Amino acid sequence: MKESLAASFEKIFGRKPEVMAQAPGRIEFIGNHTDYNGGLVMGVAIDKVVMAALAKRNDGKLCFARAKYGDKVFVDVSDLKKQPKNLNWVNYPLGVFKFLVESGMEAGCGFDMLDCSNLPSGAGLSSSAAIELSSAFAMSKLYGFETDLKSLVKIGKKCENEFVGMPCGILDQGVSGYGKKNSIVYIDCLVEEFANYPLPPDCRFWLFNSTKKHALVDGLYAARHNECMEAAKILSGNGEQKPLRKFSIEDLEAAKHKMPDVVYRRAKHVIEENSRVAKAKELLLSGDISGVGKLLNASHESSRRLFENSCDELDFLVDTVSPMKGVYGARLSGGGFGGAVMALTDDTFTESDAARAAETYEKRFGQKPAVFACASGDGAKLV
Ligand code: GLA
Repeated sequence: MKESLAASFEKIFGRKPEVMAQAPGRIEFIGNHTDYNGGLVMGVAIDKVVMAALAKRNDGKLCFARAKYGDKVFVDVSDLKKQPKNLNWVNYPLGVFKFLVESGMEAGCGFDMLDCSNLPSGAGLSSSAAIELSSAFAMSKLYGFETDLKSLVKIGKKCENEFVGMPCGILDQGVSGYGKKNSIVYIDCLVEEFANYPLPPDCRFWLFNSTKKHALVDGLYAARHNECMEAAKILSGNGEQKPLRKFSIEDLEAAKHKMPDVVYRRAKHVIEENSRVAKAKELLLSGDISGVGKLLNASHESSRRLFENSCDELDFLVDTVSPMKGVYGARLSGGGFGGAVMALTDDTFTESDAARAAETYEKRFGQKPAVFACASGDGAKLV
């Protein structure tokens, strides 16, 4: 992949790239919509990545190219504004560049940039965070900007929130940055602390990507975000607004009469999901993977009933896969409203088991889900 990206770069720009970096996609393991509520979440970086190649230009332009479409977009370093919808793919690296500069990176000239990926986009694996982190690594190296991993992760999130316009939390960028092969990334989003814990050697991840498309930016995710903020506001009373993480289920029950039922249910999901993540970490460390699997199923049930970010396709996949032999548990992974279901299995679960589940789905919905077996992988790095 590295060689072919370098060759395409040379073909398009007539010289070799000066730096290359890669960053992985992620699976949301457990902790659904907890991140932007200052909560707990666990994710796994996978072995599929986005790779970025860059070289300096001697004028003040940033050139973003796509090998697949053969197009180039030019942006002036002195005018880093958001690109229109049809050029949205440029906004991820562009926003990262803008915030790197704002945080002190000195870019005396522009660059040429090309990336490539073996990470399916639109599959709930967060290809956007992988683009942001690979760009952040490559750009800071290109301009000799000394920084640290946490700052780059936060720049990726800032790009989503303030440039692209997606009110996400730090899960995707955190996992893409802090991922480690054979381990899980545990994030306490309140204090923005990242830790790695080992994964049991015999466990495997399977992703069943429903054929339904999710529309994160287009409203539903933002609507859930707003409902959570409303709950936090009501629970905070007259004082300074605290995130949902700061409240217990008892606090919520005591304030139930002060909020619309829908707001109550969103908050209940988030508060209980935080407890499930804490419990899952404990069980993971004690080697009780069956117990972890039950929490994954419970998390999905809560998304289905309380947070209402599931859909028939995802529910059907979870109901089909979770009772199968070798499966510890299954749940929707990511924002929801379509996208993918993740199943945690032992090593006896095979391709043909996954194919059986896919056929059952096809009989019901007329189309096969895309199935991927994922291994864990390392976080963002220069290559
Ligand atoms: C998306 C967002 C994450 C997180 C999940 C839901 O993947 O990008 O920040 O909120 O949804 O848990």
